[in-house]
Amino acid sequence: MRNILITGGAGFIGSHVVRLFVNNYSEYNIVNLDALTYAGNLENLKDIEALSNYTFIKGDICDYNFIKEVFAKYSIDAVIHLAAESHVDRSIKNPFAFAQTNIMGTLNLLEAAKNSWNNDFENKLFYHISTDEVYGSLGDKGLFTENTPYDPHSPYSASKASSDHFVRAFYDTYGLPIVISNCSNNYGSYQFPEKLIPLFINNICNNKPLPVYGKGENIRDWLFVNDHARAIDVIFHKGKLGETYNIGGFNEWKNIDLIKVLIKTVDKILGREEGASEKLISYVKDRAGHDYRYAIDSTKLKEELGWEPSLQFEEGIEKTVKWYLDNNAWVDNVTSGDYQKYYKEMYE
Ligand code: NAD
Ligand code: TYD
Repeated sequence: MRNILITGGAGFIGSHVVRLFVNNYSEYNIVNLDALTYAGNLENLKDIEALSNYTFIKGDICDYNFIKEVFAKYSIDAVIHLAAESHVDRSIKNPFAFAQTNIMGTLNLLEAAKNSWNNDFENKLFYHISTDEVYGSLGDKGLFTENTPYDPHSPYSASKASSDHFVRAFYDTYGLPIVISNCSNNYGSYQFPEKLIPLFINNICNNKPLPVYGKGENIRDWLFVNDHARAIDVIFHKGKLGETYNIGGFNEWKNIDLIKVLIKTVDKILGREEGASEKLISYVKDRAGHDYRYAIDSTKLKEELGWEPSLQFEEGIEKTVKWYLDNNAWVDNVTSGDYQKYYKEMYE
């Protein structure tokens, strides 16, 4: 048996990673550690929570003594670290929380792993999940490669960049076996409706304004979350120690074009006239420090480890829209309470 600690497993991407590992690897004990912040939700894992190779622990990665105890109690052999504050807009309002969780939380985990493994690094791994946003913003041409210098602009990306540097520093300084991946924007089921795609699907359904930042001309590179989880599986098992792998599906969309695809898909499924919801588009003040374009080159991952995305974007978007429409109870649950307050502060 291998004991694998997955942090942030009750969040959007983490829940897909936990599900994949619990279902596919009965020889692993999966320990999901999550603080259950506004973004974490155990409903995301209802289908696997009773399986014998799965354990959930509620706890904060910022609490070093607690993390140390988890390593000892569960004899952790490997970590897949996803826990983070993850929303750029929130980082603009409250950068402290991002430094605390993303930098100090990561440092706590690194230090606990190093001390618990005590220089016996055989079959050990610390896998850190990061973002392409650490590379900064592109102009109209070019792609982020693993060698692109870090140039983060938002408090979120600055905190993720800092955590990546700590992870590499532990490899260089202590020989801690690490691997890092930097992925582009994800979409799919169980994403908290503060990020563009689930927020807009929900607003289109409810005939609410669609707050497009600036002119809607910023570009993002979108990957289906299940494909990200598959990439994490491949890198966890075959990635070379000390290396970084970019993850992305060569799938760039200008925000406004993507929003029109969402409108078309939701209107079609709800039986509305084609384009009826375009009237909901509402251009609002741009995000401060808004990165213009992200686009990732994932050639290394394809050529060295054989990973490729499994889905075309149109198919992924249709699946995603259907999931949100079929899971009203999930959406209602996560958008009650504090979400209303957040929404008012952000958009009204
Ligand atoms: P998310 O916000 O949906 O989930 C984060 C999870 O971490 C939540 O379950 C939350 O409860 C937990 N968490 C937060 N603070 C914690 C703490 N102090 N201790 C323990 N748990 C804590 O985020 P996500 O979108 O699933 O992102 C997961 C990871 O992937 C992050 O590290 C993020 O930077 C990275 N990433 C995200 C994307 C994306 O498009 N969403 C793209 C690339 C990389
Ligand atoms: P988001 O989903 O927050 O991801 P990120 O900023 O990490 O890339 O935003 C994706 C794009 O959509 C980004 O260019 C900002 C834009 N956006 C809006 O125009 N309106 C919104 O209400 C949100 C949340 C995002």
